Amino acid sequence: LLYTLGLLLVHVCFTRTTSLLQTLCEVQCECKEGSKFMNCSGTITGAQIPSNFPSELEHLDLSNNNFSIIPYRAFPSLWKLQVLLISNSHIKQVEDGAFTSLEKLQKLDLHGNYIKVLGNGFSFGLISLKELTLSHNRLQALYYRSLQHLESLQKVNFSNNEISCVETGAFRSLTHLMQLHLPRNNISELKNGIFSMLKRLEILNLEGNRIGHIDSEVFTTLSSLTMLNLVHNVIKHIKFKTFLNIKTHGTQIFMVHNQWYCDCDLQRVFGKIRSVRRLTLDDYENLTCKEPHVLSSLSLKSVDTQLCIAETVTVLVITFTVSITVVAAIVMAERNRKKRTGKHWSEETEVSY
Ligand SMILES: *[C@@H]1O[C@H](CO)[C@@H](O)[C@H](O)[C@H]1NC(C)=O
Ligand SMILES: *[C@@H]1O[C@H](CO)[C@@H](O)[C@H](O)[C@H]1NC(C)=O
Ligand SMILES: *[C@@H]1O[C@H](CO)[C@@H](O)[C@H](O)[C@H]1NC(C)=O
Ligand SMILES: *[C@@H]1O[C@H](CO)[C@@H](O)[C@H](O)[C@H]1NC(C)=O
Ligand SMILES: *[C@@H]1O[C@H](CO)[C@@H](O)[C@H](O)[C@H]1NC(C)=O
Repeated sequence: LLYTLGLLLVHVCFTRTTSLLQTLCEVQCECKEGSKFMNCSGTITGAQIPSNFPSELEHLDLSNNNFSIIPYRAFPSLWKLQVLLISNSHIKQVEDGAFTSLEKLQKLDLHGNYIKVLGNGFSFGLISLKELTLSHNRLQALYYRSLQHLESLQKVNFSNNEISCVETGAFRSLTHLMQLHLPRNNISELKNGIFSMLKRLEILNLEGNRIGHIDSEVFTTLSSLTMLNLVHNVIKHIKFKTFLNIKTHGTQIFMVHNQWYCDCDLQRVFGKIRSVRRLTLDDYENLTCKEPHVLSSLSLKSVDTQLCIAETVTVLVITFTVSITVVAAIVMAERNRKKRTGKHWSEETEVSY
């Protein structure tokens, strides 16, 4: 009896999974190679992520749906899943531990949603993740805890969010990261320590933020950096030391479309940066001044030689004045001496009278 019951159970379970799989593959998703690849892009009718995906699944496309939330353990038992795409799916919230058990996942794409916050448990279980895309969301801050389990991460794309706050050490766990894309966000300053531990980082893209202040040690730890993009920010002035601290074999730096205050000092800083062999200022020719008003929208290169003229003139004037004074002093001293000797002599003659 027990044996029959067992058989019956096995039979029931088996038919249940196959029939669910059949529904998913026949009705909602396009399946390939059995059910290793499933494409459910724009085809899920409900507001919930299906919970009956087969455990042999490796690639899953769930984009262009309407889920609003990714709940805790949304994908139980998908031990083999490598690629998960859930872009443009109206997601507002990702619950902590949503991706727990996706230990083989290498690529996660969540672009084009409405995610505001990455919770402390966002990265829980994502120990193999190499590529994370969170562009075109509503993120406002990045915290260490939300990214702490992403130890294998190589590329992260946060473009087009509203990030204004990056916690010091937010990227501390990302020791394998090679590309950090943060363009079109709301970052206003780069503080010492925010990029510490990113020893393998090659590409740092900060285009289109509101960066006006850069701490001079902030790039010091980036020993593999090959590309630094600071285009379209509000930088007025830079320090030579900040860039001298980039100690790599070669780094390309892009800095056009900032609010450069063109003065002799800026011209000298750029001159010095350009003389460092390992640094390449690719768009130097295209840098334009924002201030002072008389130089507005002129290219830095074209006013380059004039910027220090005022200073040179001042130096010349000072030198000239000093020289005159010195000469005058010498002449006076000489005259005094002569006068004194003359007097002396005349005194002597007076005596001889
Ligand atoms: C899934 O199908 C859509 C068209 O229905 C296609 O645009 C998309 O590229 C497919 N996804 C993958 C991962 O092949
Ligand atoms: C998505 O679902 C929400 C309810 O969960 C609904 O209000 C909204 O109209 C849906 N949007 C689309 C584009 O289907
Ligand atoms: C980042 O993601 C956006 C899509 O939202 C894409 O257009 C862009 O090319 C990506 N950037 C990189 C470097 O992959
Ligand atoms: C960017 O930050 C400024 C001030 O910190 C704020 O006024 C502005 O609304 C922010 N922009 C976005 C898109 O969040
Ligand atoms: C400089 O500007 C010119 C004309 O706008 C453009 O063709 C060129 O690609 C720019 N060079 C760089 C390095 O941005």
